[in-house]
Amino acid sequence: MANQPREQWATRTGFLLAAIGSAIGLGNIWRFPAVAYDNGGGAFLFPYLVALLTAGIPLLIMEYAIGRRQRCSPPEAFRRMARPAEAIGWWQVAISFVIATYYAVIIAWSIRYVGFSVDQSWGDDPEGFLFGTFLEASETPGFVSGYVTGVLWPLIAVWVVVLGILLLGVRRGIEKANRLFIPLLVVFFVVLVIRALTLDGAAEGLEAFFEPDWSQLGDGGVWVAAYGQIFFSLSIGFGIMVTYASYLRRRADLTGSALVAGFSNSSFEILAGLGVFAALGFMARSAGVPVDEVASAGLGLAFVVFPAIISEMWLGGAFGVVFFLSLVIAGLSSLISIVQVVVSAVEDRTGLRRVPAVLGVGGAIAVVSVLLFPTNEGIYLLDVADHFINQYGIALAALVSVVAVAWFMRKLPELQRDADATSAVSLGHWWRICLGVITPVTLGWMMVDSLRTEFDHNYEGYSTGFLLAAGWSVAIGALVVGVLLTLLPRHPSTPGGPAPGAPPSPKGAPRPGDAGHGEES
Ligand code: ALA
Repeated sequence: MANQPREQWATRTGFLLAAIGSAIGLGNIWRFPAVAYDNGGGAFLFPYLVALLTAGIPLLIMEYAIGRRQRCSPPEAFRRMARPAEAIGWWQVAISFVIATYYAVIIAWSIRYVGFSVDQSWGDDPEGFLFGTFLEASETPGFVSGYVTGVLWPLIAVWVVVLGILLLGVRRGIEKANRLFIPLLVVFFVVLVIRALTLDGAAEGLEAFFEPDWSQLGDGGVWVAAYGQIFFSLSIGFGIMVTYASYLRRRADLTGSALVAGFSNSSFEILAGLGVFAALGFMARSAGVPVDEVASAGLGLAFVVFPAIISEMWLGGAFGVVFFLSLVIAGLSSLISIVQVVVSAVEDRTGLRRVPAVLGVGGAIAVVSVLLFPTNEGIYLLDVADHFINQYGIALAALVSVVAVAWFMRKLPELQRDADATSAVSLGHWWRICLGVITPVTLGWMMVDSLRTEFDHNYEGYSTGFLLAAGWSVAIGALVVGVLLTLLPRHPSTPGGPAPGAPPSPKGAPRPGDAGHGEES
């Protein structure tokens, strides 16, 4: 329980790889192509790029600047800026807790699908196989009626790996794991995309992806989807980037890092879109139907449509193994970052050392995940929790944090000076305009629009009772728990770093605690 010096990334590259590893995840491979397709195909790319430039990158820079300046996890970082803002940090921690519980499950499914790909266990009915044979899903949504061992054991394996890496710490665990994961992912993905682009019918798929449907731009829902995708995909709004930046050294180039991480993530995402749509084009040609009849959203795209494609293509088994392994790797590097938010918040607040914090907090997330999701109702719980925590967790917390920082605490000029002091690219007025005006207005409108849709019709036609129990209560619960966690007693040790309001060091000048090695800029 002694006052421990804060860990630091060994190198800037190590931090960048971890930030990119966190960003590139199931959201890029599993979520983006389906969201893009559902929202106008090519026309989606325009709102997507607007969201990236006006909200994604500016918020990423804001979160990096807060994390590096305060050098602590989100609750303590927000508290140092203004005491009542601590609740925002805990709210983000609670959101990360929820996301981690179900995110691990999709990785567990992907692990099983690596094996299923080898002999194409789904036969000629991938949908029946997924929901019936594999997930043993109940007919109707509800709560735990029985456990599905086929999901349980890979889920336990996911948690053992993730907690094992976190036990090793930031430098020896997270940084080293990402140094292995990211190059592997890039190689796998390049192989996948090249194979997909050379399939018969790929051009039709790409046409569906790129053919702009400009009429969709007037639809508010398309913009909502674009902003939602950017937040989830860049890992912003739920505390990850504040946490990762808190392990940065003072001299690290913030703006440059945010630009590299943001554009790497989006390039990967668009590459995933190319690969997935090329494969859909192949599928459509084989089935003799238009592309829009083979595509389906979310879960279906990866676990139903892909198996069908794998069955049709030459050397499909090998393609399937590489595809699902990519999902496993991308998912693990993101899950590690999500759990680290909760672990580091508890370490900072209680003074607990890493091992008990990882085992206690990470263990608690793992137990909830294992108790709720490898069940006959797991798929319904996952679907509803994912929808509500994204819309009314991540996006709402992003809105509240940006309004609090820009409008109430008026910290943008200070954070901008901090970022500019050590970055090769200086932030102009555009950064403050994006965060102070464009992002809050767009996000505010997005919330209203999304709530209106929610009250117009029940999400996916689920019963109101189920949505209240598994969706609304989770989203509202995260907020309430976040506020209650501010009451946790504080340990006298403070996280490493300067007192509130301390200025950054001048460009390039080291400060105590910065002694390190490796490349840094
Ligand atoms: N950013 C992570 C993803 O895209 C959470 O999956």
